[in-house]
Amino acid sequence: MTRAASSNERFVSRKAARFTESVIREMTREAIKHGAVNLSQGFPDFPAPEEIKRAAAEAIARDVNQYAITWGARSFREALAEKTRWSLGLDIDPETEITVTCGSTEGMIAAMMATVNPGEEVVIFEPFYENYAPDAILSDATPRYVPLRAPGWTFDPDELRAVFNEKTKAVIICNPNNPTGKVFTREELEFIAGLCREFDALCFTDEIYEHILYPREDETVEHVSMAQLEGMRERTVVVNSMSKTYSVTGWRVGYCIAPPHITSAVRKVHDFLTVGAAAPLQEAGAVALRLPRDYYAKLQTDYLARRDFLLPALEEAGFRVFRPDGAYYVMTDISAFGFATDVDFTRFLIREVGVACVPGSSFYSRPELGARQVRFCFCKRDETLRTAAERLSTLRARI
Ligand SMILES: Cc1ncc(COP(=O)(O)O)c(C=O)c1O
Repeated sequence: MTRAASSNERFVSRKAARFTESVIREMTREAIKHGAVNLSQGFPDFPAPEEIKRAAAEAIARDVNQYAITWGARSFREALAEKTRWSLGLDIDPETEITVTCGSTEGMIAAMMATVNPGEEVVIFEPFYENYAPDAILSDATPRYVPLRAPGWTFDPDELRAVFNEKTKAVIICNPNNPTGKVFTREELEFIAGLCREFDALCFTDEIYEHILYPREDETVEHVSMAQLEGMRERTVVVNSMSKTYSVTGWRVGYCIAPPHITSAVRKVHDFLTVGAAAPLQEAGAVALRLPRDYYAKLQTDYLARRDFLLPALEEAGFRVFRPDGAYYVMTDISAFGFATDVDFTRFLIREVGVACVPGSSFYSRPELGARQVRFCFCKRDETLRTAAERLSTLRARI
């Protein structure tokens, strides 16, 4: 081995060498490079609500410019406790049960580092939000994957039960789900909760899309938080954020809700990872959390219209689409286009068609599982979606 090669290896930790850069974030850079309409990374291209932007500017003008309390500004935690009371029916103590983090991204990794020991196992449903696999590596957890199968993205209860054992420390749920748009039913959550209780396991529940749900004609789609289920409050960490609900993904204000003994551990990890989330943006966050309730109804109506515009356009272009019940993504099957892999297809779509998506393989533990799928997001302005639809319509000729 040459000296340069050996130092290259020597200076990168075994942990860092085990995962790649985020494919989702890479697709945004590719989209910019090739002038493609970016339906890859999930961030809105429309403005955030005026009142919360004003509140952020005012907080800076009032000189809220120094560190907030490490586990979160009191005003934000109090507003969060108020909102959690009306939206989930849960009483949480802002003094002992909330940690404000730099986005839910930090919330998840801080929660895992605070609770998981090396060699303990964490159950992850796949396809999964890309971050959870590196989160497991960084927190020394061993991931155990359980498939969610299209078209309904349901899991086999026996398969799930079979991965639980005495080494299971936790299960990660993303509900509503990225990338599939699945909204777990109460029955499914009860089943998972039963396993958590039986095996004395925790649940990390990523509920960042809690307010983005689409009604079905035949049944209601409801958001049930794992923390609401009997016996789960004491073993659940709710991970959430302002990013999606208030269209401010760049603010990096998220939070964990957990019982006091878990919160103490999360707060310690969080403090040494980041000290705290942006102080003025937490002040603005308190305003956001107190927006009138019709804000959430409008958020849903707007997203429903975007979903119902993009899905037929994708079908028309030749994709098989798996209709989402929540979140703002749609998983699609690309078999009709005859590409060898999802990565080849994505590269073609960005460079030749001018639309960016995310290759399905980035949501699976083994690339071949996602080789026939790509994900589109639809958190975009009407004109962005219209341009994407026009460009996608040229695909039809290739089938
Ligand atoms: C399921 C899920 N969790 C977490 C995140 C990251 O959220 P935040 O901006 O709060 O870090 C995303 C962003 O796309 C997501 O889809």
